[in-house]
Amino acid sequence: MQSGSPWLEFNLPPQNSTVAGDVDGLYMFVYYLSIFFFVLIVGGMALFMWQYRRRPNGPKVQQISHNTYLEVAWSVIPTILVIFIFLWGVKGFMDMAVAPKGAQEIYVSAKKWSWSFQLTVDGQSFNTTNEIGVMKDTPVKLIMSSQDVIHSFYVPNFRIKQDVVPGRYSTLWFQATQSGENHIFCTEYCGKDHSIMQAKVIVFDNAEEYQKWVAKWKPSDEVSATYGEKLYKQNACMGCHSVDGSKVVGPTFKGIWGREEAIVGGTKVTVDESYVRESILEPNAKVVEGYPPAMPSYKGQLKDNQILSLIEYMKTLK
Ligand code: CUA
Repeated sequence: MQSGSPWLEFNLPPQNSTVAGDVDGLYMFVYYLSIFFFVLIVGGMALFMWQYRRRPNGPKVQQISHNTYLEVAWSVIPTILVIFIFLWGVKGFMDMAVAPKGAQEIYVSAKKWSWSFQLTVDGQSFNTTNEIGVMKDTPVKLIMSSQDVIHSFYVPNFRIKQDVVPGRYSTLWFQATQSGENHIFCTEYCGKDHSIMQAKVIVFDNAEEYQKWVAKWKPSDEVSATYGEKLYKQNACMGCHSVDGSKVVGPTFKGIWGREEAIVGGTKVTVDESYVRESILEPNAKVVEGYPPAMPSYKGQLKDNQILSLIEYMKTLK
């Protein structure tokens, strides 16, 4: 925490990500704008109360019904300010919502009361608990899901926060600008030990030290494209979905990742983690136009890491 006067500098955490400055900038703008209007309105009220207080022989004030210039001013100026705040907010939201292409992907799994992570560095996958290591100035995308109740992933130093929900994936991304450790908090009350459901992001600026950190963890194939390919063959996915572009019963997996598909009923869906997960567990929820609703549900048959492995495998089929 930085020290400083609560009036001018605040005790905000350090700005350790690319979006932190913008978040604080908008926050400060709204804050000082509020102070400005508070002083203007309350000060004006106090001044007029004093100036026009009841006095013997005081001037008689005539009734004023309206003042066009004043009314236009107090309608137009706040409208412009609010639109400006809205546009700034939308820009910041879009910057925070859309991860850059090619970002390093990390799977986050929350459960009462710890965080586990699945990383792949230089083709090697491994699991970590309550700790992730990343390189400075590298965009990182988090694909998050919960195994029980709703949690929320919050890194104050990065100014990012997102709910982590069972049964679906939510995403978040960041790019760290400072090396060092950053706290991760759970910010959705999730039971007795909610307050100690903490973890950290360690940011390295030295590739050698990062390798040392990576070497600390045992390699695991729990989530990997290789395991996904094995599952694809074992679970009879291959009976209906080709990987070479040919049409069998269902859509081919080749090139499917990230594609926009037309859905029976007239809507569209982008093939991402959440859609694939839903299609595995509830195949008839969103059937791609032109294909029969022929797929059985794999609910209860595939574990989380197996679904993620299938997703990893699909991502490799470009
Ligand atoms: Cu998890 Cu609060």
